Amino acid sequence: MKKAKNTRQDFYFKKAKEENYPARSVYKLQEIDKKYRLIKRGDLVLDIGCAPGSWMIYLSGKIGKKGRVTGVDVVDLKISLKDNMKFIKGDIRELVGSFSERFDAIVSDAAPGTSGIHFVDTAKSLELAKTALDIAKQSLKARGIFVCKTFEGEGTEEFLKEIKRLFNFVKSYRPSAVRKYSREFYLIAKIFKNE
Ligand SMILES: C[S@@+](CC[C@H](N)C(=O)[O-])C[C@H]1O[C@@H](n2cnc3c(N)ncnc32)[C@H](O)[C@@H]1O
Repeated sequence: MKKAKNTRQDFYFKKAKEENYPARSVYKLQEIDKKYRLIKRGDLVLDIGCAPGSWMIYLSGKIGKKGRVTGVDVVDLKISLKDNMKFIKGDIRELVGSFSERFDAIVSDAAPGTSGIHFVDTAKSLELAKTALDIAKQSLKARGIFVCKTFEGEGTEEFLKEIKRLFNFVKSYRPSAVRKYSREFYLIAKIFKNE
């Protein structure tokens, strides 16, 4: 069992190294995007919890020169910014209401430092996911896209209900790069109703 887990970790870890991504998490977004066709050339994207920066590299390539990806994180990026990238260093919980532009897609891979205490970690993650949704409510274009990392646990069902009220298409999905023992999954929401 343990061997299988490590083999899988090694595969994505090595692949990320070979392809010059600073984190293996890029393959989660890549798989989600391939499956649900989310990101287009020219899109304006907000990437919440963007460090060390592998989602930003992927998004920058997908949106091209006419798009822009704005990343937010409490810690610094480990990549160099390209022309279509912008970085804001800060706590997302303090940035609700501060975005003047409207985004085509808001994606959040934000995750708190974990304590190992199940209900504490779930609550902290849910707080970040709810914050990402609050930002989406204010700053997502009509028919826009929202993706966020979530963990199974108390409050997740309610959160899912709220997303279903706001978007026409909602799926939960566990990309294959998610570690086997993790309770992590992603919510993918398309066609923001903006009512
Ligand atoms: C799993 S990492 C994201 C990896 C990233 N998607 C990538 O591909 O490089 C989660 C990130 O969430 C950030 N984070 C946690 N709490 C945050 C907060 N309150 N505001 C902004 N970023 C936060 C962490 O600093 C961490 O960099």
